[in-house]
Formats: sequence, C-alpha cells, structure tokens
Amino acid sequence: MPQHTRLLPATPEGLTDAAALLAAGELVAFPTETVYGLGGDARSDIACARIFAAKGRPQFNPLIVHVPDLAAARVFAEVGDEAERLAAAFWPGPLTLVLPLRMGSGLSPLVTAGLGTVAVRVPAHPLAQALLRVFGGPLAAPSANPSGKVSPTRAAHVMAGLAGRIAAVVDGGDCAVGVESTILGLAGEPVLLRPGGLPVEALEACLGMALATGGDAAKPSAPGQLASHYAPGAALRLGVTEPEAGEVWIGFGPCAGATLTLSETGDLVEAAATLFHLLREADALAGPGGCIAVAPVPERGLGRAINDRLRRAAAPRP
Ligand code: TXA
Ligand code: MG
Repeated sequence: MPQHTRLLPATPEGLTDAAALLAAGELVAFPTETVYGLGGDARSDIACARIFAAKGRPQFNPLIVHVPDLAAARVFAEVGDEAERLAAAFWPGPLTLVLPLRMGSGLSPLVTAGLGTVAVRVPAHPLAQALLRVFGGPLAAPSANPSGKVSPTRAAHVMAGLAGRIAAVVDGGDCAVGVESTILGLAGEPVLLRPGGLPVEALEACLGMALATGGDAAKPSAPGQLASHYAPGAALRLGVTEPEAGEVWIGFGPCAGATLTLSETGDLVEAAATLFHLLREADALAGPGGCIAVAPVPERGLGRAINDRLRRAAAPRP
C-alpha cells in the first residue's frame, strides 16, 4: 500500500522517530559507511517480509543483520576464534561475517532464509551506531534500493527508488566508502563471498592465508550475488580506453575527454566512494537506449569490489 515516506534529520529527535517506527515493525532506511541500508526489526517476521516486498526481491535472499558491537552479535551467532580476531581488527567497519546461527536465536527465519548461518555486520557510521543503540535490537538491512538496481549512497537515491514503499529515510549525507561490505563466510574454511569496502588483502593479512573465492554467478554462495545486478538503464561497456561516438565515458586516472571521472588521480578509495553516484549520473546523461563506457580499473584493493559491481551492472539483463 502506498505510504508517505518521511525524510528524518540526523538529530536525536530524528533518531527517536526512526526507532519508534522500527519498533512498530515499519521500515526505515539509514546511512552506513558503505551504502544506505533498508532497516527493519530482524526479530519481526512482518518487518522482514516488508523488506522483501519494498525491494521487490524476486527470491527470499537472506539479509544482513546489523548490530552495534560484537557482544550483540553473540546473542544469535556462534563467534569462533577467526571471527573473534577479524572482529577485533575490523569492526566496526565494512566487513560482514557469515557465521553459524545459534539455536533459539530469536531472529525471524526470513532473515536467514532457512539457512543455518547468519550474516552479521557492525557498521561504523555514527548514525547507524546511534540508531542501533536507540532502537536496542538487531536490524536486518539490505541495501536500500529496488532489487537489481544501483545501491544508494545518498538519501535522495533512496527516495528515488523507494519513496511511497517505506516509512522513512534518515538523511546522513553521502556514504564515505560507497560500495557494500566485504562478505566473508566463516561457517567452515574462510571463503570470500563478496569483495567489498574492506580490501581482501587486509583480510588475508589478518588471517595469514590466501582466501578462496565463493559465489560464482551460476551457483551463488551469497545467494544475492546474481550475475545481473546494480543495473542502470543504459548499456555498459567495460575496460574502454577509446570510447565510441555518443557514449558517456567514465574515466579512471588520466582520461582526456572523459565525460565523468571516478578519480582523476587514480585513487581507488575515491573511486569506490563515487561509483554508484556516477553510474546514476551517467545513466541520466546517456538516456534511454544509450551506452556508458568505463575506463579500466585495476584489480587490487577496492578495485576488486569496483570491478565486481561494474561486471554485474554490465551483465545481460534477465
Ligand atoms: O554494506 C552492506 O553490506 C550493505 C549495508 C546496508 O550494510 N548491505 C548489503 O545487503 O549490501 P544486501 O542484502 O544488498 O547484500 C547482502 C548479501 C546478499 O548477497 C545475501 O545473499 C548475502 O549477503 N547473505 C546474507 N546472508 C547470508 C548467509 N547466511 N550466507 C551467505 N550469504 C548471505
Ligand atoms: Mg544489495
């Protein structure tokens, strides 16, 4: 049913209103350092079902549960030695750990889609931290975009995609990291399920091992990792050093004649932070039936997450 979506300010009053809506089983989008999340009470079946309905998710992909700290994660997840070490090093921050689910966890079964594991994240954004503490419970929060579309890094992006379908958005300005969290599976041998805002090299250094990669498109182990995702309206060509006439060219590093640039200096952190916003801008410039060309981005550090999202954005649409 269409509803009026409120834009809440980043003030104590705004957070109190947001927490009250969440406690009533409503959905509130909020900023994290990676992207905006579409939050709902992770213990409420109704709230979780509303998340799937608002996003138009075709399947019941499991959701990431957000908590303010490691202690809150222990309530529903088994935290082993490796998880302990990684949490100490990288939480709060852009790392999601998939851990064995504890019996009697209290989470809605919709959160885990019936799996015996749960994805847990401790966001670093001060507003996300404040909202989790005022609300006082775990928040299920996928990225706050309609399913298959570009993730939001500004409150206006959330409004553009979900206004009328959710109760509110807390406006926290731009997301600093700009791509979603790195997801590491720790239900068995450590496995990288999604490259993201924490460079894989940092995880490997902490674990003292090279990480195997899971989740190929045909048989995703992070079930949301479908081939076509983050799709803008325009077609996308990657690794382009010489754009064709009429293409909107997104540069990286020195690219004379680029329409837009991820980072003029070739800085991968800056590129990640601007990626989703630039895709939206390029899409608007390209127009219906248009084409976006993207310059090559190196496959290291945050470049792995950037290239992963670009490949999914360029993949054939279902
Ligand atoms: O940065 C982020 O992670 C953002 C912010 C809002 O926290 N959230 C986010 O959520 O990207 P979402 O739903 O767009 O992506 C979550 C991914 C999906 O691919 C899902 O399949 C996977 O995590 N996932 C969730 N629970 C899982 C589980 N138990 N086992 C394997 N993969 C899981
Ligand atoms: Mg998403």
